[in-house]
Amino acid sequence: MKNIVVLVSGGGTNLQALIDAEKSGVIKGGKITCVISSNPEAYALQRAADNNIDSAVIRRKDYSEFSDYDKALTALLKDKKADLVVLAGFLTILGHEVISAFENRIINIHPALIPSFCGEGFYGLRVHEAALEKGVKLTGATAHFVNEECDGGPIIIQKAVEIKNGDTPEILQKRVMEEAEWKILPEAVSLFCQDKIKVIDNHAVIGE
Ligand code: GAR
Repeated sequence: MKNIVVLVSGGGTNLQALIDAEKSGVIKGGKITCVISSNPEAYALQRAADNNIDSAVIRRKDYSEFSDYDKALTALLKDKKADLVVLAGFLTILGHEVISAFENRIINIHPALIPSFCGEGFYGLRVHEAALEKGVKLTGATAHFVNEECDGGPIIIQKAVEIKNGDTPEILQKRVMEEAEWKILPEAVSLFCQDKIKVIDNHAVIGE
């Protein structure tokens, strides 16, 4: 059984999707053992408490040097014996130390079809604002491994979502979550926990 540690900053609906997927048996070979938040007020912490999941808070602003924050987060993840780290709406950038300590063991969910509408500054509602501004007809979500390039790691699963007349960023965000994020994130986590993902030449290859 792999230990899954979920990093959050906000509402935690993706965390909830993972908790529900674990309960219903969609996630095989793994268990959510800890939730770590960058924000002590995050509702995601309440979801962890409601499900008797251990939790911790680590704030970037408590460290004057980024490298000290990076080291502290790495130490915390090791202390929690993480086999897999999931970024489920975690809004603090990860540093070299943590990314190298957990190479191809950190999965992020991004609310667009990478390489569209991704990279620095593209998070939360801003991603959907940009998609609507461009006038694309399809958007979606991407579950991918995290490497040193922001939103540039090996892609595990993507799912497309239609944009409809009259969409606002909020309406689109909700549809992308419901139709894509809450499905592909648990699927990607389950594949990882069953050792079904191999990374070859920066590509995630899904096996049987
Ligand atoms: C989700 O839409 C997630 O994809 C996005 O933040 C939201 C968090 O919602 N993440 C990013 O934009 C990362 N670049 P949640 O707290 O309800 O899961």
